[in-house]
Amino acid sequence: MTSHDRPALAVIGGSGFYDFFDGAMEPVTVRTPYGDPSAPITVGTVEGRPVAFLPRHGTRHEYSPHTVPYRANMWALRSLGVRRIFAPCAVGSLRPDWGPGTVVIPDQLVDRTSGRAQTYFDANGIHVSFADPYCPDLRAVAVKSADSAVHVQPHGTMAVIQGPRFSTRAESRWYAAQGWELVNMTGYPEAVLARELEMCYAALALVTDLDAGLTEGDGVRATDVFAEFERNIGPFKKLVHDAVAATADTETCEHCRVHAGVALPFELP
Ligand code: ADE
Repeated sequence: MTSHDRPALAVIGGSGFYDFFDGAMEPVTVRTPYGDPSAPITVGTVEGRPVAFLPRHGTRHEYSPHTVPYRANMWALRSLGVRRIFAPCAVGSLRPDWGPGTVVIPDQLVDRTSGRAQTYFDANGIHVSFADPYCPDLRAVAVKSADSAVHVQPHGTMAVIQGPRFSTRAESRWYAAQGWELVNMTGYPEAVLARELEMCYAALALVTDLDAGLTEGDGVRATDVFAEFERNIGPFKKLVHDAVAATADTETCEHCRVHAGVALPFELP
């Protein structure tokens, strides 16, 4: 990779996104102080611009949601030049009217994970603003990029659970009763680590199932989640592609530049 094709944009997603790029792709191995990322980062082009792709769960889906090396992943992307990230993901719905196939651009998250390494600032008294966890610019681009093939909800609150198990019916009903609309296992700490490294970040959530509290029967099954994701991946991938192509600005936006005037203990990569 030469310096002129350093990617300012990235997509973190499932391995189904490998055919997302226009031309040849180059795998780049990046080492970080936090270990290796989930996989080599692939740099390809979208409408002539270099874009990085990182399969969150590894190339062979070797990482579960709670073992993904989130800190290494985000550090590696930033060190390649990335400043803006779209993060497609599968989610369960906590609303009966947002069924499988619905795409949601969340504006809030609730962290229900535990024990995940979730900061680069373990000892430095740095506390980032996270009231609005997603980049407003990228969210707006994603909402605008939706064509008639996808039903997009422009707002939503995503509860991120620890996994890898799905929720009990009581947990799921409790999440829904809080007014939360989606449930997922990977959206945190990815979002806060992006913020700590001053990278714009937006989650793009594809509903694959109604969560256990909303349905009768056996509850959510992983095979159904994967099958439903595959069923809807075409229009979803097009939305992510069009959002990347429409992202004109390749610098971190004002909202996500949280360290202005703060003396950091290390240089961002
Ligand atoms: N990912 C997709 N569906 C999910 C669900 N119901 N709960 C947690 N994560 C999910």
